[in-house]
Amino acid sequence: MSSYLIAGRTPLEGEVRISGAKNSALKIMAAALMVPGKVTLTRVPRITDVTLMAEVLTRLGAHVESDGDRLTIDASGELSDETPYDLVTRMRASIQVLGPLLARLGRARVAMPGGDAIGSRPIDLHLGGLERMGAKFTSEHGFVEGVADRLHGTRVLLDFPSVGATENLLMAAVTAEGTTSIENAAREPEIQDLAVFLNRCGAKVAGAGTPSITIVGVPELHPGSHEIIPDRIEAGTYAIGAAATRGDVTLTDMRPDHVELLQLKLEESGAEVTRGDDELRVAMSGRPRPLDLVTLPYPGFATDLQPLMMVLLGQAEGSSILTENVFEARFLFVDELNRMGCQIRVEGHHAVIRGIEHLSGAPVRAPDIRAGAALVIGGLCAQGETEVFDIEHIARGYEDFDAKLAGLGAALTVRQ
Ligand code: UD1
Repeated sequence: MSSYLIAGRTPLEGEVRISGAKNSALKIMAAALMVPGKVTLTRVPRITDVTLMAEVLTRLGAHVESDGDRLTIDASGELSDETPYDLVTRMRASIQVLGPLLARLGRARVAMPGGDAIGSRPIDLHLGGLERMGAKFTSEHGFVEGVADRLHGTRVLLDFPSVGATENLLMAAVTAEGTTSIENAAREPEIQDLAVFLNRCGAKVAGAGTPSITIVGVPELHPGSHEIIPDRIEAGTYAIGAAATRGDVTLTDMRPDHVELLQLKLEESGAEVTRGDDELRVAMSGRPRPLDLVTLPYPGFATDLQPLMMVLLGQAEGSSILTENVFEARFLFVDELNRMGCQIRVEGHHAVIRGIEHLSGAPVRAPDIRAGAALVIGGLCAQGETEVFDIEHIARGYEDFDAKLAGLGAALTVRQ
């Protein structure tokens, strides 16, 4: 595992172009399994999770080629129904091949997912919804095995607007017999992007981005191409990074409407936020003001940005309360921030953050993608030097993270 050595007290300043969205690219790649022909995707982020998903698709029998940010996937040949254990346990998003495989082959065998160390992440909502559409599941030896002669349309009411379950059901319903409606569906922009892609390939999906999605089944999809939307979590990372380091950063080629609540929260904390059509400028001069924050499914405040907000609020002039409602174990990295001098106390799914004037550089370990990015931003804010270990987690989700930060004036070196 490698590490970043970071010189502290460096404000981020300048312009950064936002890459394509990881959480959109991974699902659209899985959806390409349903297309018996060539799919071309552009603005695909060059990150490890995309490489892993490409490997999953290849092992299933698809032909995948990449050229810069362009990816072509051809799943017209014979496909296997088994998703390998070694890949699924390294990336939870590989569970998203379940719906497409069931739809295309009528059977699927997928290892139980792994992924980030951010808490127990069951797939009961995925399986329950697919069962309502006619699939039968058994679970043995760490694998879930599903069969379905032909999936049929139905009404699925989700207990919770799970992103992954909404996407799996949406994909499975596209070629099911009849009409499916998903109620209490997740509303994330990545789900809308998936629906736009599927519709380009001949699907009939309406209502994606609202809590009620309707899918009229079609017999088959046809080849298509699609540009992935900008990554709102990457955008949020640099926006919060600008505020936390008391810098001035303009995010370009992004979607300000996908990070509206973040803009409000940054303003509430004292940052100056200027919004353009596809740009956002965030500048901060003094210490942040404390605030209370609650993570919720979209359009609520993104749980993925919670660790970064912890770094900002850790330096506020006063105390903040942060409530985590999506992933119970997302506070695990708080111990690392406290190693950097932060005063954060966790009680259940609440964190009480008593702001301090300066973080202090320390050796810390990145436990997952977003907490890893947050620790790097913390290092840029801190007095002295910080070493963030296990940075491979960060490369799973951020394209050119160190190069983009260096472009904004950060002094960080990679140690192998
Ligand atoms: C996706 C994102 C992740 C983000 C999360 C919430 C990807 C690859 N990952 O993860 O970055 O943090 O959305 O915005 O897109 N749950 C169940 N049963 C299920 C499914 C989920 O109980 O069958 C629970 C989970 O344990 C969790 C909550 O629902 O507590 C949210 O999970 P979900 O929305 O499904 O997130 P993911 O799709 O895994």
